[in-house]
Amino acid sequence: MEVKKVGVLGCGLMGAGIAQTSAMAGFETTVREVSEELLQKGFAAIEKSLERFADKGTITAEQQKQARDRLFGTTSFDDLSDCDIIIEAIIENLDEKQKTYRQLDSLCKPETIFASNTSSLSITQMMSPTSAERQKRFIGMHFFNPVPIMKLVEVVRTILTDANVYEDAISFAQKLGKVPVRAGDKTGFIVNRLLVPYLLDSIRALEEGVGSIVDIDNAMKLGCGYPMGPLTLGDFVGLDTTYYIAEIMFNEFREKRFAPPTLLKRMVMAGLYGRKSGRGFYDYTKDAKDPTPMNLV
Ligand code: CAA
Repeated sequence: MEVKKVGVLGCGLMGAGIAQTSAMAGFETTVREVSEELLQKGFAAIEKSLERFADKGTITAEQQKQARDRLFGTTSFDDLSDCDIIIEAIIENLDEKQKTYRQLDSLCKPETIFASNTSSLSITQMMSPTSAERQKRFIGMHFFNPVPIMKLVEVVRTILTDANVYEDAISFAQKLGKVPVRAGDKTGFIVNRLLVPYLLDSIRALEEGVGSIVDIDNAMKLGCGYPMGPLTLGDFVGLDTTYYIAEIMFNEFREKRFAPPTLLKRMVMAGLYGRKSGRGFYDYTKDAKDPTPMNLV
């Protein structure tokens, strides 16, 4: 099946990035949010990112306009009924996702592919309220932040995914300009299986006084060529999100390497979520481009 019309659920950080990427790749894209206000916020982020691409000459003014023209915002599920694929990027809450999928299952065409951008929940558990036919057309498509820039998509199959649907999803990811990797429905897929223990270990190293925030970050940036140090990356991903993913992975595997360190838990309790809240391992409130390391231990 050829994907022509794309639906995106959620216009937050990930949903907005996915919708923008889809529109830039030439797909008519409808993005649904729960309120007009959240929709406007998401569209403002898309606009800012498109401007960034246009300013640098990555896209022309005409391409920028075309991408805008292919994007539609809505607060109604009904507007997604004729989409060929729906990519869900709503809150990482199983009940909410299942409720949404149950509603969409009866509304969408039988051939519509359902794809979740979840980073850590089980695709198999998520699809359980949908019909047996839909379950064959249910996959994971896990994008990375910032979506318009990061090339990777993890395309996740369950034991019930139809082989042709899976190949359609792989080729759709390529048409989005991304590089798909194939992954099974195991918590964390490939990237978070490897990334989460690394991020948590960097926090443990800080707790144990192995190095300062800046030195831990510089060590991995300059010693291993990573674009960001692990503590900067934690702030970028969101420390609340990192904590939440770690909890899910720890519950699944019961392995210490996925256990959130005390410092991370305390930071989340204190509202230090990273960039999004202004403070995390660094303080972004005075100069977001040149943040100051926090005094945490
Ligand atoms: N829209 C458009 N352009 C953007 C952008 C956006 N949202 N974000 C960054 N850019 C552009 C910049 O304008 C810049 O372009 P030029 O090189 O052409 O000038 C380029 O991207 C690089 O940006 P910066 O110069 O601002 O900064 P940088 O060189 O440090 O790159 C970065 C920023 C691309 C985010 C880079 O630091 C990076 O790759 N960091 C690692 C990100 C990462 O690991 N993401 C995955 C997180 S894990 C996840 O998402 C999944 C999960 O489940 C937790």
